[in-house]
Amino acid sequence: MPHLRCGATVRVALAVALTALTALTASCSILPATASAQPVRALSGTGPITFATGKVDTGYLGPLVAQWNSQHPRQRVTPIYLPDDADDQHAQLVANLQAKSPVYDVMSLDVIWTAEFADNGWITPLSRAKFPLASFLPPAVATATYGGRLYAVPFTSNAGLLYYRKDILAAAGRKPPVTWAQLASDARTLGPRYHIGGYGGQFQNYEGLTVNFAEAVQSAGGSLLSRSGRVTVDSRQAREALDFLVSGFRQGWIPRASLGWDEEASRRAFEAGKLLFLRNWPYVYLDASKRGPGNKVAGKFGVTTLPGLHGPGSSTLGGENLAISAYSQHQLTALRFIQFLTSKTVERQILLSSALPPVWTQLYASRALIRRFPFLPVLRQAILSAKPRPDLVNYTQFSLAISSTVHQALALQIPADTALAQLAEQLRHIVRTG
Ligand code: GLC
Repeated sequence: MPHLRCGATVRVALAVALTALTALTASCSILPATASAQPVRALSGTGPITFATGKVDTGYLGPLVAQWNSQHPRQRVTPIYLPDDADDQHAQLVANLQAKSPVYDVMSLDVIWTAEFADNGWITPLSRAKFPLASFLPPAVATATYGGRLYAVPFTSNAGLLYYRKDILAAAGRKPPVTWAQLASDARTLGPRYHIGGYGGQFQNYEGLTVNFAEAVQSAGGSLLSRSGRVTVDSRQAREALDFLVSGFRQGWIPRASLGWDEEASRRAFEAGKLLFLRNWPYVYLDASKRGPGNKVAGKFGVTTLPGLHGPGSSTLGGENLAISAYSQHQLTALRFIQFLTSKTVERQILLSSALPPVWTQLYASRALIRRFPFLPVLRQAILSAKPRPDLVNYTQFSLAISSTVHQALALQIPADTALAQLAEQLRHIVRTG
């Protein structure tokens, strides 16, 4: 199927009437969904480079950089650690790229930024032939592509999972919840019995909340945007999703403190034994399994698919891609370093040391790895059935509107129906002017 890449106004017009094809502006084109015919410039320039990456769970990086540096003394890599949260990382990267700064050579980009960074000319198109893309999870490859061109290389994938206290559920004769009703009932009854919170997620006002909300909406059968680009957050399904979360806050089985939680804060609450259920990414598994003074849940938790309205829910597709700055002076070294980081051996090592989900499909079938991470098959399925977030050039604006409005609804400052009506209006404007 052709992939339409053009201004959001036109995308919306297409949703209304496909015959509007004649109205396409000169800035739009219909591009093949797979390999672009456009040739990609060969990269040049070798020498020292930097690697900018968010700092959560980068314990894997030190030894890999040391290995690379000892083998490439003239092409040394220096890591630059960006803040924890996706929004803060984005702000820092964009500020530098807008100034055309050469300070970052290789950048680890959240999967949602490809369209914006490519459209602004901040990252360099890459040749597909240089990477084993056919061995990677197809949804991850799609997030690295813009307008039929490869702009980044899939590095880690991600899908949300439900962590649960298996000791508490087993004592109550309960199975891990599959539906929201089961989750809410366990959270309501077992939470108070053990003096702990029922359910937690990333409900701070930032990208993590957009993810949690999108997952709830799609786990009720809805979406943020329809396939044709129409805003659908004022649907019955979105209302059911928001009502589910709001009822948790209203009834107290989602702790109010979680309005300030990101991934790390919610992980700490779970490990401190303060939650029955937690929605988080796979990286939490290793940390929560390590015995230590701050961790009360090692050996006492399980991991499963996110629940949904009528049965299993689905996750938002997360992850990171590696891209080369358009302002890098040493793009050939940057390319080689990306080839190194995305090789199967290194991806395996990163999974083992940080539980970051690899993009190599084969690794999900390795018996040895499944013994170490029993949830790998569940994770693979969660990634393959995960829904990508809209690949809009102005995605950041789109997401900010969602997280700030949903946050007000969860804080019980505005009713759910008002929130969704206001949000739909804002999103329509953002998509129209994108
Ligand atoms: C994780 C995901 C990323 C997502 C972010 C939200 O880092 O990999 O895709 O945007 O969480 O907080």
